[in-house]
Amino acid sequence: MLTFELDERTTFNLAIVEDGRLVGGIGLHRLDWQNLSTSVGHWIAEHAQGNGTVTRAVGALLDYAFATWELNRVEIRAGVENARSRAIPERLGFRDEGVLHQAERIGERFADHVVYAMLAADWRRDG
Ligand SMILES: CC(C)(COP(=O)(O)OP(=O)(O)OC[C@H]1O[C@@H](n2cnc3c(N)ncnc32)[C@H](O)[C@@H]1OP(=O)(O)O)[C@@H](O)C(=O)NCCC(=O)NCCS
Repeated sequence: MLTFELDERTTFNLAIVEDGRLVGGIGLHRLDWQNLSTSVGHWIAEHAQGNGTVTRAVGALLDYAFATWELNRVEIRAGVENARSRAIPERLGFRDEGVLHQAERIGERFADHVVYAMLAADWRRDG
């Protein structure tokens, strides 16, 4: 992860770079300093999928969010039908907190989201 953009302390975006090429992005959105909580968003180009890169990037970002910024809660919201996206928080031990119905408008329809959360007290301490 090489480049970043910190926008008024409300978003934090990083590029995922492999062999000098941009292949994806990961960021903390809706940084809420009052409640010490935030939400992770991520994507990776199709040709770079299937290697665990995003899972590792999310893990590294959580280490940073909990240890350096001392946040308390990190959410990941994933489309109910987006199995690859849901697999990332599940692999990392996030808790499934339930479904937000019709949370995202996609063209003419609304998609349901599963909310996953990790709390500082539950995050791995050994990296
Ligand atoms: C969601 C998305 C980021 C997942 O990408 P991904 O490559 O599957 O995720 P990861 O980098 O964590 O890789 C996991 C895969 O690598 C494999 N893998 C290999 N080595 C691994 C390792 N050391 N650790 C974890 N996974 C590993 C896993 O088995 C898994 O493969 P599988 O899906 O065939 O079981 C990607 O599909 C995407 O960008 N989609 C479009 C945008 C999107 O939906 N974003 C999310 C919005 S909420």
